[in-house]
Amino acid sequence: MITANQKKELIKKSKSVRKNSYSPYSNYKVGAALLAKSGKIYIGTNFENAAFGAGICAERVALGSAISAGEREFLAICVCGNSMVLPCGICRQTLSEFDDIEIICCDENGNEKQYMLSSILPHAFQKKQLNA
Ligand code: THU
Repeated sequence: MITANQKKELIKKSKSVRKNSYSPYSNYKVGAALLAKSGKIYIGTNFENAAFGAGICAERVALGSAISAGEREFLAICVCGNSMVLPCGICRQTLSEFDDIEIICCDENGNEKQYMLSSILPHAFQKKQLNA
């Protein structure tokens, strides 16, 4: 379990980076803050494209930034949208590459919910299946 202070920090950072979202097509701004076991927090926001399929979610931007910094172990990710938002299916699968983590969802009105990734993506496809 992450501490109350870590949670507070993740919520603050996800709300803050959300402001940088580039989402002119959906107008749905999402911010994500990912806490690595190292204690560092990696942020990401969604950015869209005129070719709609080329856009990317906030969660995968944050994870990509963490991976690029050499991180491989994570504790929690917080996601903040125009409304309460849970990671989409692709983001759930992407996050499931690593150990199970806490998922915190929040909005600008102070609402919060918390899940384990494994509870919102049961039976994920995992690397062990590649060798089965
Ligand atoms: N989006 C995210 O960034 N994360 C999610 O978990 C759900 C959806 C983005 C993608 C797109 O830019 C916008 O929200 C509307 O779908």
